[in-house]
Amino acid sequence: MSTRPPTPSAGKLPLTRLAEMKRAGERIVMVTAYDYPSGRLADAAGVDAVLVGDSAAMTVLGHDSTVPATMEEMLLLARAAARGAARPLVVADLPFGSYQVSDEDAVRNAVRFVKEAAVDAVKLEGAGPALSRARAIAGAGIPVMGHIGLTPQSATALGGFRAQGRTATRARKLVEEARALEAAGCFSIVLECVPSPVAERITRVLSVPTIGIGAGAACDGQVLVFHDLLGIYEGRSPRFVKRYANLYAVARQALERYTEEVRSGAFPEEAHTYAMPEEERALFEATPPA
Ligand code: KIV
Repeated sequence: MSTRPPTPSAGKLPLTRLAEMKRAGERIVMVTAYDYPSGRLADAAGVDAVLVGDSAAMTVLGHDSTVPATMEEMLLLARAAARGAARPLVVADLPFGSYQVSDEDAVRNAVRFVKEAAVDAVKLEGAGPALSRARAIAGAGIPVMGHIGLTPQSATALGGFRAQGRTATRARKLVEEARALEAAGCFSIVLECVPSPVAERITRVLSVPTIGIGAGAACDGQVLVFHDLLGIYEGRSPRFVKRYANLYAVARQALERYTEEVRSGAFPEEAHTYAMPEEERALFEATPPA
């Protein structure tokens, strides 16, 4: 395993590198990003891939599920994140409704992401009808990532945000779905909220890399939501999240100090204001108000 982190902002990571990393046993690092600063930060930290997830509907737009995200919203966010993430591969989530109806829709919307937002790949959720969509997108020359297990776009049908594949029958079905997505041309598959023995089996039988979120340590890589790992909201995170910071508290404290200082007159100070030459000031002061 390589111990040297990649050089941030060097040339774009080739997509084929992910499969090489799997073969070499190097873990793949992915994080979501939704705008220019988060894309920049992900790049500067040396992550391998950025996911412009439709989790943006919740983390950025304040909805209570990912379902309301639209193509126009996702394109805007993906364009900004891709500008920031120069080196990592940028994968955009096809939002709910953008690929469910037909293969044609799926390809048309994948093409929009590549042409209008400059992303490197797209992601879709599920197997079943999504297999034909994945085949069509890959056939159009656009790299496509699969996503099985807990698929938030169909959380209602799955009985809520809960772990999947916890019986032997359901676990076997997940293995079949993963194989079918690989056969359909997916270059990688996200496994969300599945028991680790199931993720371990899928990772072993596939030649494309698996990226886990709540799927244990055996996956070829891990993805976390930017706001989860940085603690950019109040309240509890899902079980699978590790919070590496508590930026909500830091940001709130800073905003509270700013509020106090504006109200008390402590801000702005001399250092934050612009002077003018004395003679110009004298002339200005001598001018009667209009
Ligand atoms: O939308 C998203 O952020 C995702 C990840 C949770 C994998 O799909």
